[in-house]
Amino acid sequence: MFVPATKETPVSSDNQFENLPKHIAIIMDGNGRWAKARGLPRTEGHRQGTENLRQIIRACVEFGVQILTIYAFSTENWRRPPMEVRLLMSILQTVLKRELKELHTNGVQIRHLGKLDQVAPALQREILDACEYTKNNKRLILNVAFNYGGRDEIVNAVREIVRAGVTAEQVSEDLLNSYMYTGGLPDPDMVIRTSGELRISNFLIWQAAYAEYYFTPVYWPDFDKEELRKAIVEYGRRTRRFGMTDEQVDP
Ligand code: IPE
Ligand code: IPE
Ligand code: MG
Repeated sequence: MFVPATKETPVSSDNQFENLPKHIAIIMDGNGRWAKARGLPRTEGHRQGTENLRQIIRACVEFGVQILTIYAFSTENWRRPPMEVRLLMSILQTVLKRELKELHTNGVQIRHLGKLDQVAPALQREILDACEYTKNNKRLILNVAFNYGGRDEIVNAVREIVRAGVTAEQVSEDLLNSYMYTGGLPDPDMVIRTSGELRISNFLIWQAAYAEYYFTPVYWPDFDKEELRKAIVEYGRRTRRFGMTDEQVDP
């Protein structure tokens, strides 16, 4: 679903960083292993992961990050045992119920990336209501990738383009971009994946073509504000060349 963009106003950061990414995307992975390592059920890992998300959203607001995109449920996660799928669905519902007011007060604009039609009607409504309720907030855009898959997103975009009667000559990168679930938003500058996995699992495969990737072995429930700070500092050390030479980028 695409929620139309409103003009974002830049938020002044507290200047802790020389080079702050404007848009951070996170693959929040490792809840299950975090729980297993403690002899706890996976459920507990998801619960702790949710608690952690609250801290990370706060930290992003504090640091002055403008857009945070989180991978909450992939199109492939339907393959998990039904009980876990139900739990993951109910978590989003609970979070929206419990956190919406506070997120709104903190100026967070919620957007949804992904397909809503496979989601239960009650949850669909909660998601749409949360997006509508927060649509004028300007401090942080929080994209929730839920029932999201990068390939599904591209297929969806192509379908919409065909439906709109676009001719072959009119197809361009900009046009495709505008048909993505993130249409209107800048690409992620940095993609973080926790839990030590070195893959992108169908996340933002179009948008993150030039993102800086940051992989950490830390499981998501332990990825706290300090870990985020480390990731941002590391981002600041990278040279983004976009195909050019060092000299062109930093003469
Ligand atoms: C991430 O943790 C949460 C979701 C994918 C929804 P996992 O549940 O994938 O945790 P691991 O990878 O099994 O440890
Ligand atoms: C990616 O994590 C999806 C989310 C974090 C929502 P997974 O744990 O599902 O990824 P794979 O299956 O290990 O690639
Ligand atoms: Mg995982």
